[in-house]
Amino acid sequence: AEAYELLKDYSNGFRIGVATNTMHYNNGNYVNAMKAFNYMVAENACKFVSIQGSKGRFNFNDCDNHLKKANELGMAFRGHALIWHSMAPNWIQSEDSQTMRNSIINHITTVLKHYEGKIDAWDVVNEAIDDSSNGNGWKFRNSFLYQKNKDFIDLAFKTARQVDPKVKLFYNDYNTEGIYGKSESVYQFVADMKKRNIPIDGVGIQYHVSVQNQPQLSKITDLIGRYCKLGLEVHITELDVSCQGACNSGDEQNKQGQVFSNALKACLSNSCCTGFLVWGVGDPDSWLGQDKRGLLFDGSYKPKAQYNALLNVLKST
Ligand code: G3I
Repeated sequence: AEAYELLKDYSNGFRIGVATNTMHYNNGNYVNAMKAFNYMVAENACKFVSIQGSKGRFNFNDCDNHLKKANELGMAFRGHALIWHSMAPNWIQSEDSQTMRNSIINHITTVLKHYEGKIDAWDVVNEAIDDSSNGNGWKFRNSFLYQKNKDFIDLAFKTARQVDPKVKLFYNDYNTEGIYGKSESVYQFVADMKKRNIPIDGVGIQYHVSVQNQPQLSKITDLIGRYCKLGLEVHITELDVSCQGACNSGDEQNKQGQVFSNALKACLSNSCCTGFLVWGVGDPDSWLGQDKRGLLFDGSYKPKAQYNALLNVLKST
């Protein structure tokens, strides 16, 4: 009994999604708000540590439960994330390089087989480019993964393609929305992967931004367009927009709505941009904390003005 119009009803098949967490599924208002979307990603449950907290013992329960809920609600499902320096169990971090290679291969193989045919896209590698990268080439993040295996990214993508030739393989990172030099570095890095025939299908632009520091519409539109020219898909994967003053003033609210709308406009104006997801259902469940007011639903899971801003973009496209 939604008292408001659903984003998915105006999406024309376009994937408009949300990050969710099973720990909130007992909240009826939360689940009701989820129904605005037709695409889901698990905020934490499909990460390495969540699935393989102890070596060789795979626990798919929580990730499976997200997928089950997605199926129930008619939502497609996005996988996040196979290989990431964060949320990696201690056991893998202390392995020597050859053992770690095998663990990377084993994790990707087991997880992709488990979800074969059920998930349309995976973040194969998450956040591997260093924040200091300034647009002149790129610097890899000096993580345990990189220290032990300089080629771990290539290894991860090649393994994934071999195990499941159909699922779309994404590289996902933040500060890639055209505000910082890192955006250009990630573009160059991904272009280089394509040039070297590493099997990558798409790029996830996370889009954690703030009202005060937002991407320019023309810049983000162009950037997505350049990824399209490489033959890649783009997903906006983790959109949220922090407010400095809790977006209590009408002015700040309008500005925040504009950041959401611009992200969607930039995506919709490029045909290779095939998915758009916000990072959480409502302000109470946001990793930013409720007082940042970064999402589309308020403290009681009622849609905010920013929700209508997105709705209007969909209606006018
Ligand atoms: O599971 C424990 C729980 O047992 C314990 O009681 C609780 C106490 O704080 O912590 C729980 O773990 C937390 C986990 O979320 C599950 O709730 C971690 O401390 C916490 O660090 C973790 O935060 C997540 C973070 O990724 C790290 O994985 C956030 O919820 C999640 O929103 C955030 O998402 C990331 C994306 O994956 C990648 N891009 C950036 C984005 C935002 O940081």
